[in-house]
Amino acid sequence: MLDSKHILLIIGGGIAAYKSLDLIRKLRESGATVTPVLTRAGGEFVTPLSVSALAGTEVHRDLFDLTKEAEMGHIQLSRSADLLVVAPGTADLMAKMAQGQADDLASTLLLATDTPMLLAPSMNVRMWDHPATQRNVATLRSDGVSFVGPNEGDMACGEYGPGRMAEPLEIVAAIEAAFGDGPLKGKRILVTSGPTHEPIDPVRYIANRSSGAQGTAIGAALAKLGAEVVFVTGPADVAPPSGVEVVKVQSAAEMLSAVEAALPVDAGVFAAAVADWRVASSSESKIKKKNGKMPVLEFAENPDILAQVSQMKTGRPTLIVGFAAETDDVIANATAKRLRKGCDWIVANDVSPATGIMGGSENDVTLISKDGSEDWPRMGKQAVAERLALKIAKALSD
Ligand code: CTP
Repeated sequence: MLDSKHILLIIGGGIAAYKSLDLIRKLRESGATVTPVLTRAGGEFVTPLSVSALAGTEVHRDLFDLTKEAEMGHIQLSRSADLLVVAPGTADLMAKMAQGQADDLASTLLLATDTPMLLAPSMNVRMWDHPATQRNVATLRSDGVSFVGPNEGDMACGEYGPGRMAEPLEIVAAIEAAFGDGPLKGKRILVTSGPTHEPIDPVRYIANRSSGAQGTAIGAALAKLGAEVVFVTGPADVAPPSGVEVVKVQSAAEMLSAVEAALPVDAGVFAAAVADWRVASSSESKIKKKNGKMPVLEFAENPDILAQVSQMKTGRPTLIVGFAAETDDVIANATAKRLRKGCDWIVANDVSPATGIMGGSENDVTLISKDGSEDWPRMGKQAVAERLALKIAKALSD
């Protein structure tokens, strides 16, 4: 909830400005007051009348408005807010912010305050990917500006990729998180991530191609919504998210112990690619070559961590999410896997080499629950994580 929070909302000139009307409505429903500022370009997409009608207050547009200066100086306008939100955050507004320009009301407000800021970028995919924009993103991040989105998907201009403004509900969740009051505040969530390494001897091990990217993005997204996250990770390629409790493990057996130690939790997301087998008796010392004689490795099955937690008789987490990495009959196999393991949801994905998902930056998932399956469009792993985190927040609040 955003009771008594005062948001200054800057609406830039992008096609996504129409979503900001819904954002205003949702913010007010959460208890916030919204002071809208409409840039000149923003006014080409939505009318001042609809903005002020939804905000229930007048919309500010001009830097040199003497009547308003007499009532409330523009500097006061941004300083009296608890948070400045820029949505849509156009490439132009971001460039101005990064440069410290102040040639209109919006950019002056953004420069004249140290109030925290949240930006919801919205632009064509090429503009987002352009090195100049990415430089501005890096500058703004290091200046302490928070970001929500952009999402990936079909764009109004007919292209596909990152650049779509985050949905109003996602922006509200990010605003709540900015106040340390996200929808997952007070919830403790366990995330497993990365591959496991099963030792053959002290120098050799059996591993898999998981990079840990999806699990890491999920840990970050849950933390962003205010959850207390315990992040149990195998030796991943990517660094663990910040703001979470990180427990590093190597093998499946170690992962199980770490998971047991993390309980009880409200929810568990099992994104790790746990090795199904380990070498039954790994050698204490390095196995040496023996005149062309091949070593024979005997395997033993690893504990199924997801199944074990899902089937707990007491203290089972309210919501358990498993992953199903499949190469054939993805939906049928994942549906059967959900029932076999006893988890609530399965995030199924096709990890055939041709999809480029394992180790790649995108994911193409189907969410399977007892109510059926939900096909998500192919999107970045971060977008998958944010969508999943919001769904988890909703499920835990129902
Ligand atoms: N998992 C686990 N412990 C294991 C194996 C898997 O916790 N020992 C979890 C994974 O983290 C994932 C889910 O189970 O959430 C499914 O993993 P997957 O590798 O797709 O399934 P398997 O159990 O290996 O089944 P199969 O070999 O039939 O594909």
